[in-house]
Amino acid sequence: MKILVTGGLGFIGSHTVIELQNEGYEVVIIDNCSNSSEDVLVGIENITGKAPIFEKMDLRDRSKVTNFFKKHSDIVGVIHFAASKAVGESVQIPLTYYENNIGTLVYLLQELQEKTEASFIFSSSCTVYGQADELPITEAAPVKPAESPYGNTKQIGEEIIRDTCKIAPQLKAIALRYFNPIGAHESVEIGELPLGVPQNLVPFITQTAIGLREKLSVFGDDYPTTDGTCVRDYIHVVDLAKAHVIALNRLIKNQNKSNYEVFNIGTGTGSSVLEVIQSFERVSGEKLNYAIAPRREGDVTAAFADTTLANNELGWKAELTLDNAMSSAWKWEQKVRNT
Ligand code: WQD
Repeated sequence: MKILVTGGLGFIGSHTVIELQNEGYEVVIIDNCSNSSEDVLVGIENITGKAPIFEKMDLRDRSKVTNFFKKHSDIVGVIHFAASKAVGESVQIPLTYYENNIGTLVYLLQELQEKTEASFIFSSSCTVYGQADELPITEAAPVKPAESPYGNTKQIGEEIIRDTCKIAPQLKAIALRYFNPIGAHESVEIGELPLGVPQNLVPFITQTAIGLREKLSVFGDDYPTTDGTCVRDYIHVVDLAKAHVIALNRLIKNQNKSNYEVFNIGTGTGSSVLEVIQSFERVSGEKLNYAIAPRREGDVTAAFADTTLANNELGWKAELTLDNAMSSAWKWEQKVRNT
């Protein structure tokens, strides 16, 4: 069966393509390479022995999207990763984020609702919860007013899918609310490739350790947490990728309980920034150069998932540990810098 993966050359997308191919699916990737490289196709083929079909295309080009679905009319499912995802940048250029993240979602859904049957997996984010009132966070936790246009595009995206599924019973959809994806495939053939200065913690740690960055700034140690630094649910990207395949299988096999479902995808465990640093130092044997810095605007104190629904309904549970993830992230950084 043929599956479209938009943004399939990206960090989470490429790891999901691996797991889809392992499951026996035929994969078509659409990516405009604005935040990824075609070299990732080589990594995928080195891992699975099979190069996915790749079409370099911008989903904002409506006519190209229509022509694509005419050409690949045998697509049975779509996993939609393609989106702009930098929280800070979204504050600076909101309309670019709304056009790219919302406009392309609408175009994809307009094509899918014309099909007799279609399965759709949406890349959502725990950012929709903001600072949740209760921890761990369940799917019933209220969606809070977004703190950034990026987060708002995830909230609006979920609502668009929900409203479409209400009038299009032939469309089955699942939104996966990711917590913090980190790490790399054990083969070290693919991994996270942030362009420019990394905004996220783990690539900044590995780039500091490899000597690309002078030191890591820890954004605040005066939060009401065990050690004063923020707590997040860091999930290995391979565990996250596997959750996508399980969710897709659920829809294709019509095991879904309604035609729009939402699942938190995390480990269920919170780790502080200092605990992530300690994990890195443990697995790498490197001493990390870091300093406490002022808090970062918009950061929530703590967020980690209640994974009961995904465990029980999807039959999915994270298997890899923080140390696994930090070790793979470090091996990937060393590979990319050829050290
Ligand atoms: C994690 C922790 C920082 C960098 C964001 C988006 C989320 C998703 C993942 C797209 C925080 C601290 C970070 C640094 C630091 N993105 N930190 N020094 O903010 O939890 O989530 O990225 O889907 O939607 O909101 O991830 O990795 O940026 O930060 O101290 O140089 O690390 O303060 O506590 P975040 P992050």
